[in-house]
Amino acid sequence: MQKIPVHVFPTRADAATQLALETASLIKDNEAKGKHTVLGLATGDTPVPYYKELIKWHQERGLSFATVTCFNLDEYTGLCRDHPQSYWQFMHNQLFQHIDILPENIHMPSGTVAEADIPAHCHAYEQAILDAGGLDMQILGIGRTGHIGFNEPGSPIDSRTRAVSLDPVTREDAARTFGGLAQVPTSAITMGCGTILSAKRIVLMAWGNSKADIINQALNGSVNSSVSASYLQRHPNTDFYIDAAAASALS
Ligand code: GLP
Repeated sequence: MQKIPVHVFPTRADAATQLALETASLIKDNEAKGKHTVLGLATGDTPVPYYKELIKWHQERGLSFATVTCFNLDEYTGLCRDHPQSYWQFMHNQLFQHIDILPENIHMPSGTVAEADIPAHCHAYEQAILDAGGLDMQILGIGRTGHIGFNEPGSPIDSRTRAVSLDPVTREDAARTFGGLAQVPTSAITMGCGTILSAKRIVLMAWGNSKADIINQALNGSVNSSVSASYLQRHPNTDFYIDAAAASALS
């Protein structure tokens, strides 16, 4: 018995189609009620097929994102918005520049806040989420350390947006895109586990064999701080959308 509903799709494109359909329905339902939709978004390779589907919804089916407010999970410390590896760039390239979201409705932690100002910046980020009405839907990938956002092992279940040190495994995984380990930042600002768990709906996606072991731990292991994604077992409305390879370690 899985504690979290798991949907195993033949391909990641099939999973992305399903999740984009759910997102489009949410946006349209809220819009009909005169309400904004607040999305929590993720970076990494995992959500790219989903972003492609959302772009299709906009370009081919007329879905408007004018009533959508987005909050991204995290950003690397020390990277300015123009840096090619910044999550700001990633989100604009993969999604924002292809849809009609209003620039003022795009929120991401800043990588260039002075160290002394980071606590105030993080507090303001949490407040902005609350002011927007809270996260309607949070999209997640998962790191090989079990992180969600950049909540590395040891992150408390009630943690909030804050600066964190990156795990060596996470930095190693990022080395390819940065052109070498030395170029990978050592820290980041991330929404906390508590911030993520406050979302009304959460969908975690994972593809490929490299995620199979951590997916099994997150779903079937005890809820504990060594695998932040295990905290999702405590959330009443979380689903995992995974492909057959990511499901290969599940019994
Ligand atoms: C980064 C992001 C996470 C993401 C993870 C997995 O660490 N901060 O939000 O889930 O990468 O990356 P990928 O989707 O490329 O496997």
